Amino acid sequence: MIKNNSMEVIHLRPDNKIIDILIGKINGKLFACENYCPHRGASLSKSTISYSNQRIICYLHDFEYNISTGKLENIPPKWLHQNPEWKKSNDLVIYKIIEKENNIYVDIP
Ligand code: FES
Repeated sequence: MIKNNSMEVIHLRPDNKIIDILIGKINGKLFACENYCPHRGASLSKSTISYSNQRIICYLHDFEYNISTGKLENIPPKWLHQNPEWKKSNDLVIYKIIEKENNIYVDIP
């Protein structure tokens, strides 16, 4: 069971691969995503959550990703004049997650 407004990393080993997934609950809503920031790979488990707009804010450069859609929604103004190539980022990889009878299920494609 995941406590509300908390998150933790789980380590999966499917098919000899290692996948680190960040799971959590924001305002009662579960989420699951890859633990690594799509910008430069920082561990998102060290990041903060914006509860008001459902975003995870990467601790390394403060890019903000929507925790439901995975979309990059904000790059802080301090990076405005940074090289456009440096600012490029894929979206965050999101996984389906459900909680049933005190068990957590994450759908890994
Ligand atoms: S590594 Fe996450 S914002 Fe740059």
